[in-house]
Amino acid sequence: MTTSHNRVAVLHGVNFDILERRDPAVYGGLSLLELEVKITQWARELGLEAIFFQTNAEGEFCEYLHRVPEQADAAIVNAGAWTHYSRAIADALDVASVPAVEVHLSDVEARDEWRRLSVFDGLVLAKIAGKGPDGYREALELLAGELDAKV
Ligand code: DQA
Repeated sequence: MTTSHNRVAVLHGVNFDILERRDPAVYGGLSLLELEVKITQWARELGLEAIFFQTNAEGEFCEYLHRVPEQADAAIVNAGAWTHYSRAIADALDVASVPAVEVHLSDVEARDEWRRLSVFDGLVLAKIAGKGPDGYREALELLAGELDAKV
């Protein structure tokens, strides 16, 4: 029997439900659904299946991370502003213990000082920021390589 390692959980945090209402100069003006359609397509091209989760509640984000190991083989995390201060989410990602990539639509290094800190430092394979939706494609490519290596 062959086991496939191809499921990637894509988690979006606070304020991503209203992505289309956020500053288009920073976030591109697309909706979360439009972003997810792109990610689904890119994942398919790489032989991956993307599953999605979004919440504005920090505890729910942690609880979803608790379930990730049963539902997916890898994760892409864009926790929004929580990225910069939520040690609870960092701990939950640590426990999930799946290969993970941190993605940000905007260039967090080039914005406010407080956005430069990430609680995911040392927990993720890579941090991809400032590439808009294409950053998710890059993350999927990275994870496809990582999961291939495990089969
Ligand atoms: C973000 C960057 C964060 O600093 C911000 O709080 C967000 C979105 C991004 O994708 O660029 O909500 O994670």
